[in-house]
Amino acid sequence: MAKIVGSASTSHVPAIGGAIAKGLQLDPYWKPFFDGFLKVREWLVRQKPDVVVVVSNDHGLNFFLDKMPTFSIGAASTYTSGDEGWGIPVIEPVRGDPDLSWAIINHVVEAEFDVTTCQEMLIDHAITIPLQLFWPDQSPPVSIVPIGVNTVQHPLPSAARCYKFGKAIGDAIRAHDRDLNVLVVATGGLSHQLDGERAGFMNPEFDALCLNSLIGDPERITGYSTRELVELSGTQGVEILNWIVARGILGQTNVSEVHRNYHIPISNTASAVQVLECA
Ligand code: DHB
Ligand code: FE
Repeated sequence: MAKIVGSASTSHVPAIGGAIAKGLQLDPYWKPFFDGFLKVREWLVRQKPDVVVVVSNDHGLNFFLDKMPTFSIGAASTYTSGDEGWGIPVIEPVRGDPDLSWAIINHVVEAEFDVTTCQEMLIDHAITIPLQLFWPDQSPPVSIVPIGVNTVQHPLPSAARCYKFGKAIGDAIRAHDRDLNVLVVATGGLSHQLDGERAGFMNPEFDALCLNSLIGDPERITGYSTRELVELSGTQGVEILNWIVARGILGQTNVSEVHRNYHIPISNTASAVQVLECA
């Protein structure tokens, strides 16, 4: 049976792709950020994941404001990275796992989550950057199943709904009849706001509350309304919804935090990486 080993979740900021391309990992601005991934890489070597279920939000490559699925699931055998106009390099195509994708899709639809199934899906910086951070010197030794959450066009799914969606995905993975080590990855957040009067807004206190509650008390953040999340974490900080889905996937099992790094700012974002290991 498939086994969920834990989660490694991280912020995604296009500028990170630029820093990787220019080799700026030791630059004083970037070092405190990139150093946060050394422990993650060691942990990944020990966990040997076969598949990454990656929860993120599309930033306009697949869906735009005219068509915006609340939840989407990729079911492709290959995912190609697309040019979003940030000037960052695209990466080599990444393998999919259509078998696991369809197992998840069938299970969550049965559980009354009416998802958009995507047999073609481009991947953007929200997926390519975490893969480059986790496996900097090689093409990722994993296949991926991308889970998309609308964190962009209101109305957004509630935090409570995202948590339940994650639980349904986790049940599907644990029922999947193949010996796979599955790693869960959420990308995005933490607090940031790119537009409007509060552009540049970040909230370290709320970010700490989120990271702490994701360990042992996820219900603490699922109680916030979307409006409260926007107020507390910024218009793009609502990407924390991806992390809530990921925590739902880990389920009720005891999880322990094996690593965290928090660094302000990377571009306009309070950046975080957190590794949670399932007991
Ligand atoms: C930035 C952050 C994001 O989450 C994103 O998708 C794009 C840009 C930023 O801080 O620059
Ligand atoms: Fe983003």
